[in-house]
This record gives sequence, structure tokens and C-alpha cells, in this order.
Amino acid sequence: MAVLVVGCLAWGTCGPARASATAAPDAALPPGSAEIYTRYAVAADHPLASTAGESMLRAGGNAVDAAVATSFALSVVRPFSCGIGGGGFMVIALKEDPRGEIAGPVRVALNYRETCPAAVGPDFYERAPQTEAPDRATLSTFGGRAVATPGTVAGLLRALDRYGTKLRPEVLAPAIRLAREGFAVDAAYEKAAADLAEKFEAEPARKTRFAFVWSRFLREGRVKAGDRITLPEQAEVLESIAARGLDGFYRGPVATMIVDAVRADGGVLTLEDLAAYAVRQSDPLTFTFKKRQFLAMPPPSSGGLAMGQTLGILSRVDLDEHTAQGVSAPYLTLMVEAMKHAFADRAAWLGDPAFVDVPVARLLSPAYLDQRAKFTRVGKSMRPPSYGTRPEGAERAPGAPDDGGTSHLSVIDDHGNAVACTETINLEFGSLVAVGGFCLNNEMDDFTTRRGEANAFGLAQSDRNLPAPGKRPLSSMSPTIVLSPAGEPEVVAGASGGPRIISATTQVVLNVLQLGWGAERAVQAPRLHHQWSPYVLEYERAYEEVRWQGMPVLTWLRKQMNECKPATRGAAVQAIVRRPDGTLEAACDPRKGGTPAGR
Ligand code: DON
Repeated sequence: MAVLVVGCLAWGTCGPARASATAAPDAALPPGSAEIYTRYAVAADHPLASTAGESMLRAGGNAVDAAVATSFALSVVRPFSCGIGGGGFMVIALKEDPRGEIAGPVRVALNYRETCPAAVGPDFYERAPQTEAPDRATLSTFGGRAVATPGTVAGLLRALDRYGTKLRPEVLAPAIRLAREGFAVDAAYEKAAADLAEKFEAEPARKTRFAFVWSRFLREGRVKAGDRITLPEQAEVLESIAARGLDGFYRGPVATMIVDAVRADGGVLTLEDLAAYAVRQSDPLTFTFKKRQFLAMPPPSSGGLAMGQTLGILSRVDLDEHTAQGVSAPYLTLMVEAMKHAFADRAAWLGDPAFVDVPVARLLSPAYLDQRAKFTRVGKSMRPPSYGTRPEGAERAPGAPDDGGTSHLSVIDDHGNAVACTETINLEFGSLVAVGGFCLNNEMDDFTTRRGEANAFGLAQSDRNLPAPGKRPLSSMSPTIVLSPAGEPEVVAGASGGPRIISATTQVVLNVLQLGWGAERAVQAPRLHHQWSPYVLEYERAYEEVRWQGMPVLTWLRKQMNECKPATRGAAVQAIVRRPDGTLEAACDPRKGGTPAGR
């Protein structure tokens, strides 16, 4: 079989990136986005956040301490991506329980996803009066009614209290310092702010409605790389959390401030919603690929299941033959076909398992994967209804959103403990309702807010994902830990980028486990994305240079796929890979501009 000839031979050096809020696949890479360490590593999408986590490890903390410190720091330095106004998922693998309550290794999935307020039911957005036009269509993406009860603070404190070793004040200190002393705007921030400023200019009423975002985060549309942002208001909230724990956020003055801000903008969040917030803890979703055990996020994440299905199908279709000499067009088409099945099932079956039955075991069963694998062929694409088992939902394909509202971090410490953590406020700067120096999420849009319509990411979703009091919206966030056959964390990965999180994380894992690439090359390589609905294959532009059997690989892909188009947005993966010699290669996606830290 012919070897795939890549324009610049090694994707690891020609890379697809231009620093931007989310991704742009076609210019020079910034330096320092990957490093090799002998003891421990943190990979976050901002250098100051990686450093905050590394400072915990240097001071003898474990991977959970590092993850929590990194996350709080991200809340400050990535205010458009994540933060204490949002929610997230954390997968933890520890060699042993720091409290000694559980014998043997600890494997945990923490679900601190934002939650539907008690006053919101399934038809909340559909019933919104026409008089709300033109804002009616954006009620779930901007303003008070887009805000779900935030979970990040509860999740981080649960992780720290139960699985960390350090005390709150120490772990929060780097974030508090960054908020008080400030941080420099980088290219990703500038891009996110510029995108949003355009929307404010198009609708100037937003400048007063979302005054904090306009004046402080966007500097009235003039914020530039190098500008210094200080957030003393957020420092105070973080100090309140350091001093009072959960009560410093979910009760008392901070809670009142959040509720007042949401309700002043038409939202329905209450003090009771905040006080009732509870982290959900479960076992990770597990599956195997290439003799490795995957620890992934169960529903309401769709990421773990989709990755498990994609890899499960691929392990049934002669993948090794198609990668014997590296990447090939058949390999890529099989990967895309498998992904289509997974995304079709996402649309049909998934929702919050606390509210609807999600048949995870059936969708990951050998019998089901065998059957789907029969319909995963080179040279044969099917009509959309033939993917997955109950395809349904809208074909509507809204334009790609500004999807910078998420951040992923990966940690491995020198005891072999690992954390994969992805957090979000959904779209860039979330709902735009800011309070206490941070943005509140617009995670309500991850529900099926209007039956038969796609969400801001163009994802068709079923009625299983309708809002209901206390329910958590379906998510694409895919924090993943891969354990080697010896039980060591071999890959820790995840991404930001809406549904592209799933395809990007899966491709990075395949790049490592199937193609044998290191972390840097695996993360930088160009990517494909197909989410079944809309029925379009997206490719990063670096694929235009890639050839196989003397032809551009895109020519092969176009033969099989109905529609192919260049990606305008992408995902940003942060990954750590343990190399055969035991060292750790940590790679931050140059598409967003982070750098790792470690030792
Ligand atoms: O949970 C989800 O799937 C979305 N809220 C993620 C949004 C996202 O990744 C935005 N991007 N960078």
C-alpha cells in the first residue's frame, strides 16, 4: 500500500495552526507548545494556568491539587472559555486513595455540569413570547435566560476535599494572585474579544446590557494582545471561596449577586437553585482499544460513548492493514464513517441519565459494534438515516459559532496519578452576563431548547435532551485517561471546541495508539470532523497538502463523502503522553496557544 505523502512530511513540524480563540489550521506554530518531562506534567491552554498547576506539584501536591489550581487559574486568564460561572467534567485516576477509605486504585468521574434551574421546563424557550423578537432565537445563548446553575466551584472543591492533599487557600492562591495582579491578553483572547466586539457593534444595545463584558473584557472593542487585564472582583469571589468553601459561592453575598444579575437580565435562577447544586460522582465510562483501558466521561457527556463507539467500530475493520505504512485514505474514510455512526447515536439516544434511559451498555456492546462495523466501509458512504440506530432530528445547519467557551487540562504527577478535566461556559464569554469579574455560562443552549432545531453547534438532539428542573444538558466534553496494559496513565487528553472535541480527542488518541506518534505531532496534525448532522465533512486546510497513492487525499475523501468543506473552526487539545522510556511528553494545542509546565 502506498504511503501517505504529507506536504511537509512530518505533520509534527508543519502543523496546522494559527493562534486563535479556537482554531485555524494554516499558519506557523508558536514555539514551546510541547515539552518532555521526567517527573510530572500539566498541559493547559494558557501558560499561566499550567504554571499554577505545576506549582502545586512542585510543592508536593498530587494531580488533583494541580488540576484544581490550574482550573481556578483558567477561570481568571481564560474568561471567555471557562471559569467559576460554568461547569465541567473531571476524570481522576489515582494509584491510591489519599484518605485511605478505598482500597486499591481510585477511578472516578465527577460531573459538575451546569444544571437547569427549577423554573425552566421543556417548553420554556418554545413558549417565549413573539414580542421578545429579535432576541427570541437567542434566549438560550445570551442573557439571563441562557444561564444554568453553575457547577465548577462545587466540582473543584469536591475534587480537592476528597481526592486532593492541599488546603483551599494554597490551591486558590495562584488564581487570586493572577486576578489581582493581572495577566496579559494573548492572541487567543484578542481573537475571541474581536469576534464578540463585532456582534456588539452589530447590536449596540448589548454594550449597555452587557456593560462589564463590553468595558472590562473587551475594552470597548479595543482590547489587544499585550494589554493587562486585572479582575479584582473575581479575586474577591475566589477569596470568599478560599475562606468559606461552598458557602462562599453558593450562599451569602456571592450567591445573591449572581441571582440578582441573572434576574435583572430576565433570567429565572434562584438562591434555592444555587444552594441545591450537587456534584454527581460515578465510575468513569470504560472501554478498551488496543489492549488499553479507557477511563472516559459517562452521560450526560456524549464524548466518552462516542469515542468508545468510534474506536470499537474501528477495531473491527482492519485498521492495522490500513495504517501499516502510516495514514492512508482508507484509514481516514473508515474513521469518518465510524464517527458518523457515533454522532447519529448521539443525536438519537443521549440525554441526562438521571432523567432518561441512555442505553450505554447496548450502544457499546460487541453485538451492536459488530453490526455498525458491517456498515463502515471504504468507498461506501450511506444516506444519513443509515448511521447509528435511530437517527432523527433536524438537518438544519446554522453557521459555526464562536466556540471558545471551553478549556481542557491534563495532568500526570510523579506518583502516576492522572486527571483529565474539561470545563465550559459554552460559547465565548458565555451568556455575557458578568458578575463578580466572571461570566456566567449559557449552557442552557446545550439542551434541546426548541424541538427539531439544532443548537448553536449545529447539533441535532432529541427530546431526551429537553430541559427539565435539575436536569443537566448533553455535552461533548470528553476528558479521557488511557491506561496502558500495565495500568499506568499512558495518554491523558481532552479538548475544547464543541462537537469537534469528540472528533479531535479521538483523532489525537488514534494518532498516538494507532499511528505511534508522540504528543506534539499527534496534537498538531490536521484533523477531520463529521458530526452526521449537518452531513458535511470538515477538514483542516493542511489536508490540502496531503497525498495518498499520488492523489490529494481530499480527492479520495470527496469520492466517498457527499459534501466536504474546509474547517473555519476547530478544537484545541491538551494532551500528555507517556513515552516508552517513561518520560512524559506534554503538548498544548498551538491552535489556542497554551504551553505545558512540568519537571
Ligand atoms: O458541553 C459542551 O458540549 C459545550 N458546552 C462545549 C462548548 C465548547 O467546547 C466551546 N468551545 N470551545
